[in-house]
Amino acid sequence: MPSRTDLISTDVELAAERIRRGGLVAIPTETVYGLAGDAENADAVARIFEVKGRPTDHPLIVHVADADHLHGWVARVTDEITALAEACWPGPLTILAERGPRVLDAVTGGRPAVAVRVPSHPMTNELLTRVGGGLAAPSANRFGRVSPTRAEHVLADLPGLQPGRDLILDGGACPVGVESTIVDLTVDPPQVLRSGAIDAADIERLLDTPVSGAAGPSRASGMLASHYAPTATVILAQDAGAAEIAAGDLRHGGRRVEVLDRTGDLVVAARELYNDLRAADREGLDALVVVLPPAAGIGHALRDRLMKAAAQPGPDHPSRGG
Ligand code: TXA
Ligand code: MG
Repeated sequence: MPSRTDLISTDVELAAERIRRGGLVAIPTETVYGLAGDAENADAVARIFEVKGRPTDHPLIVHVADADHLHGWVARVTDEITALAEACWPGPLTILAERGPRVLDAVTGGRPAVAVRVPSHPMTNELLTRVGGGLAAPSANRFGRVSPTRAEHVLADLPGLQPGRDLILDGGACPVGVESTIVDLTVDPPQVLRSGAIDAADIERLLDTPVSGAAGPSRASGMLASHYAPTATVILAQDAGAAEIAAGDLRHGGRRVEVLDRTGDLVVAARELYNDLRAADREGLDALVVVLPPAAGIGHALRDRLMKAAAQPGPDHPSRGG
């Protein structure tokens, strides 16, 4: 009987074999781990939703080896796509563009636009090159929960992965730590749907046009008010002093509380964010009081994820008991 720890491997050819046979492979990327399947295999795509516990109307990003592999995935490789691809790929940027003929309805939930990205991680780039096609991959966590940034997080989160059929490619800790920036090029002006390591100002400079922020009706699931949530209550504080006061009050009330202040180095704060949130649950904390980073550079993405982690989920949200 193969055991669950047999799922973890560093063998890229074995991973390619699993994808070719329709299995799922958790892939390391510079942002977070993804749960990948052959984007043109309808059964593999269906299993991604099943294993993740994700509603099928939340579309998947198609990952390709490089910008030359975009043909067929997007309707046209426009000048805007080329400008962003040349500057940012491989890297933490996802582009929403009009879909091409290779895209299955199940990947976009029937939408006319597809999300595409060239990730940056040596193992995953090697896997994409060997497989040749596109890999559909959401973050490799249970829907509504914190994204995984280590192979062990994936193993703990996804009991639906099967040894001998699926694989977790262990590429170590993800260096960026928060999900890619998503820019929608199907609207004018382009719109940033999710913040990440590449910020709206970078995109404005690269496209030489104003870019609108993530306001308006939500079109990306990461934009639900409550998402990325650990079980421990996340409480936000404006500075270290306020954090200590809030934590002290809660401790007086008998709660197990810690303060998280990584405002001194936002790159480290992003890299460790999801591991920190997971650690709060492993340690059985009732609450984690987090000092908010400044709204600059990757601080925008951190504030966005922290606010979602702190939002109280509604009664039907999957992070309530799901
Ligand atoms: O960094 C990342 O982007 C990671 C790694 C694995 O690449 N992936 C990731 O995927 O974060 P996911 O599925 O957890 O988040 C992608 C977001 C979702 O909110 C999804 O709804 C949105 O992108 N999205 C994907 N395809 C879309 C589409 N065709 N139209 C609108 N939104 C889309
Ligand atoms: Mg996700």
